[in-house]
Amino acid sequence: MAEFRIETERLILRDWQEDDWEPFFAGTNTPEGMRWLGGVMDSAKIAWQRARLESYARDNGHTFWVLQRKADDRVIGMCGLKRANQAGGPQGDFEIGWRLVRDAWGQGFAKEAAVASLDQAFTRFGAPHVLALTVPGNSASWGLMERLGMRRRTDLDFASKDFDPVGGRIIVYSLDRREWAKRA
Ligand SMILES: CC(C)(COP(=O)(O)OP(=O)(O)OC[C@H]1O[C@@H](n2cnc3c(N)ncnc32)[C@H](O)[C@@H]1OP(=O)(O)O)[C@@H](O)C(=O)NCCC(=O)NCCS
Repeated sequence: MAEFRIETERLILRDWQEDDWEPFFAGTNTPEGMRWLGGVMDSAKIAWQRARLESYARDNGHTFWVLQRKADDRVIGMCGLKRANQAGGPQGDFEIGWRLVRDAWGQGFAKEAAVASLDQAFTRFGAPHVLALTVPGNSASWGLMERLGMRRRTDLDFASKDFDPVGGRIIVYSLDRREWAKRA
């Protein structure tokens, strides 16, 4: 499958290379970074997550791509597209996701990468709509969904203790191709 690589003003979104994984996990697998994602992962969970991201790229031609900052070439996180596959939730729909190293938050990098990913979803991969999933406490994540113009879909919410053992609920946002075209 052709290698994926696109550029935004400040970022490169591309397929993962061997040297990306260590700085990515070192920068994001922290109590704060993983607060709403099930907590800090052990080495077995890290290996499982890497294998999943690699399998998405292999099977679908898209994944949560690595984000490289142009200003200093640093790996500052990931953002991109998978197919929804969480147990109990929607299955197979395009799903956007993001995770950045802490010192890159609050500078618009996640939104910049997300806009590019949504554009790829609709123009390159033919997505009819794109979902985004999070937990009610993750206001940084659902705040970004709202800033992207995604619509809350309470009808798609589902019960899951994967990421939020206390509340046990996943909330869903969605954006369809027509809404995106109107906005662009
Ligand atoms: C979710 C996450 C990616 C959001 O990142 P973020 O940096 O807050 O998101 P954005 O890129 O949209 O940045 C928005 C902020 O940057 C500010 N900003 C600064 N410079 C900016 C610029 N040039 N352009 C746009 N926004 C800019 C905005 O004002 C906004 O700040 P505010 O929230 O104080 O108003 C981040 O919190 C994260 O990685 N969390 C941990 C992993 C996680 O939970 N992932 C989601 C799982 S569902």
